[in-house]
Amino acid sequence: MEKLARKQVQQLTPYLSARRIGGSGDVWLNANESPFANEYKTDFARLNRYSECQPKALIEAYAAYAGVLPEQTLTSRGADEGIELLIRAFCEPGQDAILYCPPTYGMYAISAETIGVERKTIPLTADWQLDLASIEANLDNVKLVFVCSPNNPTGNLVKREDIVSLLEMTKDRAIVVMDEAYIDFCPEASTVDLLAQYPNLAVLRTLSKAFALAGLRCGFTLANQQLINVLLKVIAPYPVPIPVAEIAIQALSEAGLARTKFQVLDLNANRAYLQVGLMMIPGLQVFEGWGNYLLVKFPDGDALFKAAWERGIILRNSPIEDCVRISVGSRDECEKTLGFIRNYYS
Ligand SMILES: Cc1ncc(COP(=O)(O)O)c(C=O)c1O
Repeated sequence: MEKLARKQVQQLTPYLSARRIGGSGDVWLNANESPFANEYKTDFARLNRYSECQPKALIEAYAAYAGVLPEQTLTSRGADEGIELLIRAFCEPGQDAILYCPPTYGMYAISAETIGVERKTIPLTADWQLDLASIEANLDNVKLVFVCSPNNPTGNLVKREDIVSLLEMTKDRAIVVMDEAYIDFCPEASTVDLLAQYPNLAVLRTLSKAFALAGLRCGFTLANQQLINVLLKVIAPYPVPIPVAEIAIQALSEAGLARTKFQVLDLNANRAYLQVGLMMIPGLQVFEGWGNYLLVKFPDGDALFKAAWERGIILRNSPIEDCVRISVGSRDECEKTLGFIRNYYS
């Protein structure tokens, strides 16, 4: 069977999601999920019918939340499907390239590789910002530039003036894809307002993080109408199951939005608690984080990660030496994790 698969697929190492890695324990801080398990009503009475390709009420609700027009909004199975749709729609396999800036989210690479699209990487600078000069020097054949802000796993925001420079630099050449999966934790940093000025901008969003709906698989791509129309050509005919649309609409109702706002405040307070607590432990470097996670450099990151794992505290190791990413959980989970790390180094 392996030999029957496309060469590209034979060589592929699949994305090791937190779920695939597994583990066992009672503190799960490895997937940047929300600790809140909110309840929803679903009506399973109409499942004999196909869903709408782009459920109108869902599109209108998210567009209103994001401050864009419904025509500028596309919904898909998570932001991950948005990444794949953009690459499939805009990059010719074996000819065009995507560009991204590691360390960053792993799915840009995996999706491009699966589709047979070249990957160009320009590492972030020492302070995890865009290396604009190197990006400019490497734009040949690049159709999509992925920028993640807040960046996963580093947690920092990419400077707005650099994003504007990048949009200017790529005008009429390439699309800048801003991955704003974590933007609901710092909405003032969104670049969605730049859509009005830059037709070469696309913004990825998700209900998986602040909206506490990772298991729902519901994400959005925001862009000008022409770009959205191109994506609609390649999207599956029924990408959003009926119960998914129903639950997402409830999450985006007035009451749902108020609850999310409250939970974001709660998680941001927990992040501050975790950050300050970790900063007080000698030898640790805690990077400022704007999403629902913190990147922490330990004297021995791998050993700390393994020791926590054995104690049932599941964190995420990172490609950055000695750095471990810790999702912000409930206050109880943060206390347990902080207590464990404090003990480990005492
Ligand atoms: C930066 C970033 N983008 C996109 C995603 C994927 O989000 P979704 O669950 O909507 O597919 C994640 C998930 O962890 C992420 O960290």
